[in-house]
Amino acid sequence: MTKIAQTGTFHKSVPALLADYHDGGEMANADAWLTDTAETLKEALRSYHMKADIKSIRLTPNAALVLFKGNDNISVDRIEKKRSYLYTTWGLDILAVRPGKGYIAVMVKRDSRHVTETGLLWQRRELAETAPYYNTSFVVGEREDSGELLYLNLAHPFGGQPVSGPHTLIAGESGGGKGVLAANLIMDICATNSPEMARIHLIDPKAGVDYQWLESLPHLEGGIVTEMDESSQRYVDLVAEMERRYALLGGARARDLDTFNERVRSGEIDKVQVKVKVATDGPVQEVSFQEHDALVMPRLYVVHDELADYMIDDDYRKDTGSLIARLAAKGRACGIHLILVTQRPDKITIPGKIKANIANKICLRVSSKVNSNLVIDEAGAEDLMGAGHMLAIIGGVPGGAQFAQSSYMDPWDAQLMAEAISEDCPVSDEAEVEDGNVVQMRGAA
Ligand SMILES: Nc1ncnc2c1ncn2[C@@H]1O[C@H](COP(=O)(O)OP(=O)(O)OP(=O)(O)O)[C@@H](O)[C@H]1O
Ligand SMILES: [Mg+2]
Repeated sequence: MTKIAQTGTFHKSVPALLADYHDGGEMANADAWLTDTAETLKEALRSYHMKADIKSIRLTPNAALVLFKGNDNISVDRIEKKRSYLYTTWGLDILAVRPGKGYIAVMVKRDSRHVTETGLLWQRRELAETAPYYNTSFVVGEREDSGELLYLNLAHPFGGQPVSGPHTLIAGESGGGKGVLAANLIMDICATNSPEMARIHLIDPKAGVDYQWLESLPHLEGGIVTEMDESSQRYVDLVAEMERRYALLGGARARDLDTFNERVRSGEIDKVQVKVKVATDGPVQEVSFQEHDALVMPRLYVVHDELADYMIDDDYRKDTGSLIARLAAKGRACGIHLILVTQRPDKITIPGKIKANIANKICLRVSSKVNSNLVIDEAGAEDLMGAGHMLAIIGGVPGGAQFAQSSYMDPWDAQLMAEAISEDCPVSDEAEVEDGNVVQMRGAA
């Protein structure tokens, strides 16, 4: 009988690499700036007849977060109306004003932002006990309201957060930090999963320049796709794989991928009878059964950067767009996850039938309120600071869109980490992979 290692760590070489990251600390004057800013803000609001006590103050990577105790003198609207005076008269660049239970939170932009490296966030992160064999929770960034990590829980509740949706949209203008965030997520998948349990399909019309390090990782399935035709074919194959998986799940009476895999691993099932419809001339369809070996199936992560580049092509949108919509609608139970990345968040790039099935929406800086609304159904992302600053709706996380900051991974560091992970995950003789499925699992005996 097979057993999953209960380690809850990264792959072997990763911790040593993470140990090399040191927090340089905040700028020397950051604390003084925070206190000054809070006092100036209080004084400014008072001058506009909004007298309120400060409940708490906090420095985030991008802002001073000042919470005022609520009272009838101040309101979100009244503060919003003074926004331009706060900027021109008081030198306070307001990022956002939000209501809370018993308080109003005001965020004032910092002049110099604090960059957090991915290695530093990972030093703080928690890991599912099944890692590095299998993990489905990944770090999106640091929440600005609390400083806690924001996780994307694609399949299981984790880190005090419920399960998120299975699919994710990352949108924002050029330089917003979409590629860096997508790279963080891909590296996270690779650092915490065995290549047998996580397969990455990467489509990037920009010739994969942002993701070259991924080429050395055994998790990458079939090379980086950089051409439109190849991309269409990849989605045809993915939909066929989805249908194949559904037939297997149905035959095994398993409600989802994890249940199926668990039964295979425990030896409960080793063969599956799959229903096959036989075409007949008459109105009655005949059904026959085919026997298939029951094999553990990996999760498939489909990352498509610069989605708009292809979706503006009418044929692609019509044909491949509907395949993407099918994956979005039905991928969850059989372990297929979409991560769609785009500069343009409009209906051409993300048609309603795709968007309706994407629960995780990460909006980096956009050029207009309209675009912010398109992604997260509210304005605000037009005021974000760029470079990884986001408003994120993560399925299941209460409170609507959350301000957060993603971490930065230097391309050179990414290369080093990818090489280390790939050495940790040699494709061993024992692990024979057929059609993306593990025939025999490495390290699972
Ligand atoms: N989390 C971050 N922290 C600090 N700097 C960042 C972060 N994310 C991005 N940047 C900076 O912004 C630059 C652009 O980021 P990125 O390539 O991810 O943008 P993009 O949204 O993918 O843009 P494009 O649409 O042009 O591809 C990075 O090279 C980096 O300098
Ligand atoms: Mg990019």
